[in-house]
Amino acid sequence: SSTRFYTFKVQKMRITKMCKSKDIVTVNGMFPGPVVYAQEDDRIIVKVTNETPYNATIHWHGVRQRLSCWSDGPSYITQCPIQAGQTFTYEFTLVQQKGTMLWHAHFSWLRASVYGAIVVYPKTGVPYPFKYPYEEHIIILGEYWHKNLLQLEKATLASGGGPPTADAYTINGHPGPNYNCSNNDVYKIDVVPGKTYLLRLISAALNMETFFTISNHMLTIVEADAEYTKPYTVDRVMLGPGQTINVLVTADQSIGRFSMAMGPYMSAQNVPFQNISAIGYFQYVGSTPNSVSLSAQLPSFNDNLAVKTVMDGLRSLNPVDVPLEIDNNLFFTIGLNVEKCHSSNPNKSCQGPNGGVLAASMNNVSFIRPKISLLQAYYNELQGHYTEDFPGVPLKVYDFVNGPNTIPNDTQSLNGTRTKVLEYGSRVQLILQDTGTVSTENHPIHLHGYSFYVVGYGSGNYNPSTAKLNLVDPPYMNTIGVPVGGWAAIRFTADNPGVWFMHCHLEIHLSWGLSMAFIVKNGKGELETLPHPPADMPRC
Ligand code: C2O
Repeated sequence: SSTRFYTFKVQKMRITKMCKSKDIVTVNGMFPGPVVYAQEDDRIIVKVTNETPYNATIHWHGVRQRLSCWSDGPSYITQCPIQAGQTFTYEFTLVQQKGTMLWHAHFSWLRASVYGAIVVYPKTGVPYPFKYPYEEHIIILGEYWHKNLLQLEKATLASGGGPPTADAYTINGHPGPNYNCSNNDVYKIDVVPGKTYLLRLISAALNMETFFTISNHMLTIVEADAEYTKPYTVDRVMLGPGQTINVLVTADQSIGRFSMAMGPYMSAQNVPFQNISAIGYFQYVGSTPNSVSLSAQLPSFNDNLAVKTVMDGLRSLNPVDVPLEIDNNLFFTIGLNVEKCHSSNPNKSCQGPNGGVLAASMNNVSFIRPKISLLQAYYNELQGHYTEDFPGVPLKVYDFVNGPNTIPNDTQSLNGTRTKVLEYGSRVQLILQDTGTVSTENHPIHLHGYSFYVVGYGSGNYNPSTAKLNLVDPPYMNTIGVPVGGWAAIRFTADNPGVWFMHCHLEIHLSWGLSMAFIVKNGKGELETLPHPPADMPRC
């Protein structure tokens, strides 16, 4: 293995999309940002300098940060933000990790434009579990906004209303021809008939889960969240923000221009969203540019069955140590809450974040961001920044999916910077249960510092006596779309010490408090102990 050095300059860049010019924040003047290439077990060193007037951090989504929690990146969880003009160097080793991942900003909503791919190749001489394709391409799905994202977050919270609507979906930054003035802003892959392509699909969308498809071509899934899967052929996939899926696509048509499309998967009721798809081209060499363009058929925006079909086929190729016994049986509800407002001033005195009507919670606790990083507070034993009383099971048990028994009291959340402490090496099972107090919805829940086995999922309220678990070949993921009006069961062994954020990867839900943090204690051995913080750790 080797050490790879990267320099990331977080900068403002002028960009014109759909005939409007604006400044966006990017890395090294690229949108999407630079690709981090590596091989399994490599050491990665990224010197990040913040040249914008805003705060910033970078998170390496899916990197398990073995004994390197300090480099994980979520602001106010493992580090203070890198302030304007400051530099921080992230250092970590890709221990037993290969595949496609995403890096993104982890401060406010900056990640809408600050993102890029991580591509980790197997060690030299180690073959792929499939015939190596003719070519590979990175395809990052995103959402584009004309507004300044930091202001948009503030304004959305202050309004107390629902999530804002993106101006466009994008494929590698390009909206494609469906939007105003975007005919030539299209991502295209030239393909040779008969050849097979590896597409590294990544979702960097901000507030939306999305479908992806290519007209007249099948997609064979071979990897999900940077872990090999048994090959599974589908005609479309769904990715939640942060998720990655590698697919093989054979160019088995003879000639023509086919479209690839990305569109919304929105399972909640009454939420406005961008319902125009981003289009790219899958174009056979030799076809004239405007030859037959077959448009792609995306599932409809609320096609829950299409999502389940993808989930049902995800199976680990080589599962390693699925925890069969569990030491810690946790149950977290996830969902939105309507907060109490004073009738005299309904907009200003509500108890959600920033006085809003809506909050979001896990086990009915809405997470309050601390003023300094939790990891620094924990490591230095600083008092008063967090508590260790995050409930391991719901405080109130009711019919989760069909809403609370008594309205409105049960819809309000508790607030707090509450953490759940896990003993080193404990084997955890966590049931994530969607709730319907506002609307049921598929939530992409991401755990930092670990991958976990998704041992089960289903619809309705979780019932231990009827739930079927797969302990043989469950997929090993870092983000799980908990089924709308349903539940998912995940298992992992808490063997990486530090403070690890877990949250919904729909950014508005994170802003509303749909998150919590685990503290995983040190073990006894040297390789079971969190190291000292790096000297250049930013201060708050
Ligand atoms: Cu993709 Cu908390 O992150």
